[in-house]
Amino acid sequence: MRLAANHQSAYIALPIYFNMNDLKESVSHLTHLQCSNCTKVYSAEQINTFASCDTCGNSPLISHYELEGITKDDIDIEERSMWRYFKMLPLFDQKNRISLAEGFTPLLRLDNLAADYHLASLAMKDESQNPTGSFKARGLSMAVSKARELGIRRCIIPTAGNAGGALAAYCAQAEMEAVIVMPEHTPKPFKDECLLFGAKLILVPGLISHCAQKVNELNFSGDYYNVSTLKEPYRLEGKKTMGYEIAEQLRWKLPDVILYPTGGGTGLIGIWKAFHEMIGLGWIESRLPRMIAVQSGNCQPLVETWAGRQENSKMYQGRATLANGLAVPNPFGEKLILAILKETGGEPVAVAEAEITRAQREVARREGLLIAPEGAALLPALQKLLANGRIRRDERILLLNTGSGYKYL
Ligand SMILES: Cc1ncc(COP(=O)(O)O)c(C=O)c1O
Ligand SMILES: [Zn+2]
Repeated sequence: MRLAANHQSAYIALPIYFNMNDLKESVSHLTHLQCSNCTKVYSAEQINTFASCDTCGNSPLISHYELEGITKDDIDIEERSMWRYFKMLPLFDQKNRISLAEGFTPLLRLDNLAADYHLASLAMKDESQNPTGSFKARGLSMAVSKARELGIRRCIIPTAGNAGGALAAYCAQAEMEAVIVMPEHTPKPFKDECLLFGAKLILVPGLISHCAQKVNELNFSGDYYNVSTLKEPYRLEGKKTMGYEIAEQLRWKLPDVILYPTGGGTGLIGIWKAFHEMIGLGWIESRLPRMIAVQSGNCQPLVETWAGRQENSKMYQGRATLANGLAVPNPFGEKLILAILKETGGEPVAVAEAEITRAQREVARREGLLIAPEGAALLPALQKLLANGRIRRDERILLLNTGSGYKYL
């Protein structure tokens, strides 16, 4: 099969492998995809990558479901992975599920740090315990499962590191081809795991934005399915399960504030999407936690746009950071991320490299957790927001550690 390259077209005809209508009745309540900017409807029964509307240009596509009638009893409580929420997920036929038991990660109380900072309630959702050591497993499990369902055999991805390893692992299980394009400065374990999973690895000088250009060059004939952040709709659906889990683990009472390390933004958008779906289902109250997007001072496009120093981040030049996942200078979902921060009363915050290193040690020593630098960035951000009064010490605070520190050793 030939796929159109992403920059040429967002619409690709579905090869006829099965009757989609039969499968739709079986489990998923997915009805359609919608442009995140103008609400134009796109089909969920064909391979659609991102919205390319005449009126509003290119934007991420959002999956929509007919969720009426689904209750908490529909959660598959025997399934100790993100697939316990399979009814709210886009896979039509569970035979296509490619899973390494991702998700359903622990929500840990950080009592030592809470005592140090005089906080009433500090918790961490620990995504380091996922297959391949990061939350990227959720998105790639979902995207590769959907790719298989849609008859795709070859995937390509620009990555800061973790998404590449996850794609390689899920493609290995799916017996699909994976091409991973990664910055050459990425630590060795991120590269080695891709090779061990049997993927093709291409190293590029620069940041993920340069890898994205390389992907477009390599894929000019459209032979590969580009699973770049928000350039296909289903990684987001995997990531949204973090939102469902947070609600379920906190007995359907959301925290007051969530700090999230934000690069491309799929995690943050996914959690917010899950909250909205659960409000629609009547599972949670309508007051959302304030979402705080934490960035590195070396690459802070959201902070710059938020502060009005640029119209958007399209021309923003970032520098490398120890927190590789945060080195995303031109996030495709910027508009949506900023709208979410505004809607929830949150904001973007940047922290310095030295603060990240210090925080990684502090969390390790005080809590016994060796978290990723991306997750460690949350602690100095929290300290800043406590100092300027944007977060109160009596609030319920949730940090989202997105990955493991072990790959950085
Ligand atoms: C550990 C880690 N945290 C955070 C991010 C940023 O994720 P998102 O693109 O969802 O903002 C990445 C992305 O590579 C990552 O690997
Ligand atoms: Zn549109």
